[in-house]
Amino acid sequence: MKLWGGRFQKGPSEVFERFSNSLAFDRRMIDADIRGSIAFAGALERVGILTALERGQLAEAFEKILEDSRQPEFYAGATDEDVHTLVIRKLKEAVGGLADKIHTGRSRNEQVSLDVRLWLRDQIIATREDLTAFLRAMLELAARYRDAVIPGYTHTRRAQAVLWPHYILAYFEMFARDNERLCEAYRRTNLMPLGSGALAGSGFPFDRETLARELGFDGITRNSMDVSADRDFMLDFLNAASTIMLHLSRLAEDWILYSSEEYGWLELGDEVTSGSSLMPQKKNPDSLELIRGKCGRVFGCQNALFLTMKGLPLTYNRDMQEDKEKLFEAVDQTRASLEMARVVAGAATLKPEVAFAACDRSWVVATDMAEALARSGTPFHQAHQIVGKLVLDSVTKGEKPKDLDPKLARLLDPREGMRTREIFGGTGPETVALALAEAERRLTRMTP
Ligand code: ARG
Repeated sequence: MKLWGGRFQKGPSEVFERFSNSLAFDRRMIDADIRGSIAFAGALERVGILTALERGQLAEAFEKILEDSRQPEFYAGATDEDVHTLVIRKLKEAVGGLADKIHTGRSRNEQVSLDVRLWLRDQIIATREDLTAFLRAMLELAARYRDAVIPGYTHTRRAQAVLWPHYILAYFEMFARDNERLCEAYRRTNLMPLGSGALAGSGFPFDRETLARELGFDGITRNSMDVSADRDFMLDFLNAASTIMLHLSRLAEDWILYSSEEYGWLELGDEVTSGSSLMPQKKNPDSLELIRGKCGRVFGCQNALFLTMKGLPLTYNRDMQEDKEKLFEAVDQTRASLEMARVVAGAATLKPEVAFAACDRSWVVATDMAEALARSGTPFHQAHQIVGKLVLDSVTKGEKPKDLDPKLARLLDPREGMRTREIFGGTGPETVALALAEAERRLTRMTP
């Protein structure tokens, strides 16, 4: 069965059918397709195309199709062009000729927009759930070692001492912005496109606002040509997903380093690491490496849709069928990575003594010393020079800061320097305690 054909003298070649078929992937939207059609039948009744009885018959048949679609045999031998065609064929099989009315004043161009919007909005909420569950694990990990001091790095070199929760909260900020980006993508996704027709607007006076309400949309789209042509609500999601993955990949990289023997102050759980088939001693951070790897994959999805859309003339072009696999892949990989990251965070343990020793052994206190001199009147550039000389002298002799004059002991304690950084956004212990408590409240508000 085709939704078109009258104009053709020959059917499509087997190669073209195989080449253009989308059922294998767009069947993932079957719930959305059926829900949309049930609501659309209501709209058809309101404009007098269907009687109340007919609408009821169609709705009942749709519910049955939805139920049947849960069984794998539902799809056995299906050669329909796409999920929209499959659902209408099943409807015909159930109610006969009455099914011929369901597509009145409707196009697959708007139907595909509707279906993706219905499907994606649920997935955006689910992604936000995964994101906030991961952040909960991160805040727990921060709170487990509230007072731990770790080296903060620039250029992968020990720079200044920071509190462990301060470091975790840096990621909290990144992912909180990602949550906002997801909310924005949701706002643009959750608009109802039906009534747009193929591109020019439907020839039937559907009450679009009522349809929108029934389907749980926040509003309706404003231009029918835009509906057939637009995929940027998907690009918005892909951008949010890519940024989540970007942040996860940086966290993954940090923890791969910190848990290596070279750094050695973070321990990954056995449950998220794997061994080597040859080297008995290995404990490899595969979960984090896979997160880092999947980041590239999701970027690829975003790029692919950008490239598909670039230069497409208005309005719908079949190129746009290439959107869904990339969108689905990005959703799946991003959600899976957030779930994995949550488990990694839950299983991670810090070795506070090792982290502190790394600070103690290096010159992370140099800035604190220079600033102490500046506070007592030495111009900062001179203070910088003085401490620089001290560091040079000490590293030349192979000494640690601790080997210096015991009178300087207070200045040489990494914890002391942090106490001067009680500035909003800084790593001062009181500031960090407040920021952590505030992050916990913010997370409650972020959770969908
Ligand atoms: N499978 C198609 C897609 O995903 C549905 C829309 C078909 N529209 C059309 N004019 N051929 O884009």
